[in-house]
Amino acid sequence: MKKVGLVGWRGMVGSVLMQRMSEEKDFDLIDPVFFTTSQVGLPSPDIGKTTSTLKDAFAVEELAAMDVVITCQGGDYTKEVYPKLREAGWNGYWIDAASALRMADDSIIVLDPVNSDVIQQGLKDGVKTYVGGNCTVSLMLMALGGLFEKGLVEWATPHTYQAASGAGARNMRELINQMGVIEDSVKAELADPASAILDIDKKVADTIRSEDFPSDQFGVPLAGSLIPWIDVPLPSGQSKEEWKAQVEANKILGRSDDQIPVDGLCVRIGAMRCHSQAITLKLTQDLAVEEIEKILAEHNDWVKVIPNDRDITAQELTPAKVTGTLSVPVGRIRKLTMGPEYISAFTVGDQLLWGAAEPLRRMLRILLA
Ligand code: HSE
Repeated sequence: MKKVGLVGWRGMVGSVLMQRMSEEKDFDLIDPVFFTTSQVGLPSPDIGKTTSTLKDAFAVEELAAMDVVITCQGGDYTKEVYPKLREAGWNGYWIDAASALRMADDSIIVLDPVNSDVIQQGLKDGVKTYVGGNCTVSLMLMALGGLFEKGLVEWATPHTYQAASGAGARNMRELINQMGVIEDSVKAELADPASAILDIDKKVADTIRSEDFPSDQFGVPLAGSLIPWIDVPLPSGQSKEEWKAQVEANKILGRSDDQIPVDGLCVRIGAMRCHSQAITLKLTQDLAVEEIEKILAEHNDWVKVIPNDRDITAQELTPAKVTGTLSVPVGRIRKLTMGPEYISAFTVGDQLLWGAAEPLRRMLRILLA
C-alpha cells in the first residue's frame, strides 16, 4: 500500500477531504500518515484503522518517507516545505489544494472529469506535482466542460457570486453574525405587522454601517450587501481571482499556448459555501439551445442541465439546493440578443467539494489505480 501523508486535514478544506475520503473508503486503499504543524505525537484522527501518532509537518525526513503527500495546509506551508522536500531528493507525488504551485511549469492542475487526458499525459511524462484549481474555475469547467471539450467556446465572461467559505471559516462565522445582528436590530419592528418597512430599512442600513457591526474578517458588511472585489489587485485592473479564470482554465484544458479568453468580475455575496456564476459565452458556431444542453449534459456525471423555466430554476439552481452536494447544475441557457452565437448560462457548485477537496482525492485514486 502506498504511504500517503496528509497535511492540513483539520482545516475546512481538509475536513471536507477527510469526510469524502471516508465516504469513498479511500483509507482502505492506502497507508495513511497524519502530519501536524502543532500537535506532534498526539493521536491521529480515528479513520477506522490503526495509524501512527501525528508527525511533524515540517520534518522533511518524515515527509520524504511518503509515496504521496496531500496538503490542504495552505500556500505558506507549501512555499516553505515543498522546495526543501524536492531539494532533499524526494520524488513522490505532491497533491496540493493551495494555489502556490498551480502555475508552475512542472505542475498540473487536476480536474479529472475535464482533463484526465492532461493528467494521464503528465503521469507518463513523470510529472509529480498535482494541484487543485481555483474553485470558480473548476466549477465553471465542470458545468461547461462539454462546450470547451468540443472547441465550441470562442470566449467566456464569467461574473461570479462567491460564497463566504472561499474567504475562510472565520468569514463564514462572520457572515452569520452579521445576519444575526441585522435581525436583532429590528426584532421588535418585525414582530409588529403595522411597522413601516422604510423605518425598518433605515434601521438596518444604520446597523450595517455602524462602527460596531462585526466586520473584522471581511472589513466591510457582507450580509445585506456584497463586495465586488476578491483577492489582491493586479496592474491589469483585474483582481487576482479574476486573473486566475483565463490562465487556470486554459492550463487545465492543456492549452496554455493557445488561450481562450476568459475574463469577468468576481463578487463576494452572502452565500455560505456555494459559488455561483453568470456566464456569457460566444460560441464558435450557431448551435440550437437543445444541442448545447445535450453537449453539456453528456460531459460528466455531475453536471445537471436545468431547463430555462422559472419555477424549476428557482428550485434547482441555487446555493440552498446545491450546498453540501457534488451536483453542478447549469441553467438559464438561452440565446442573447447580441447574435446567434452568444449564449448565457448560470451555474452553481459547492466550492469545498468540486471547488477544492474532490479533485484532490480523485487524483489520489488515479495514482492508486
Ligand atoms: N479564492 C476563492 C474565493 C476560494 O475567495 O472564493 C478558493 O479558490
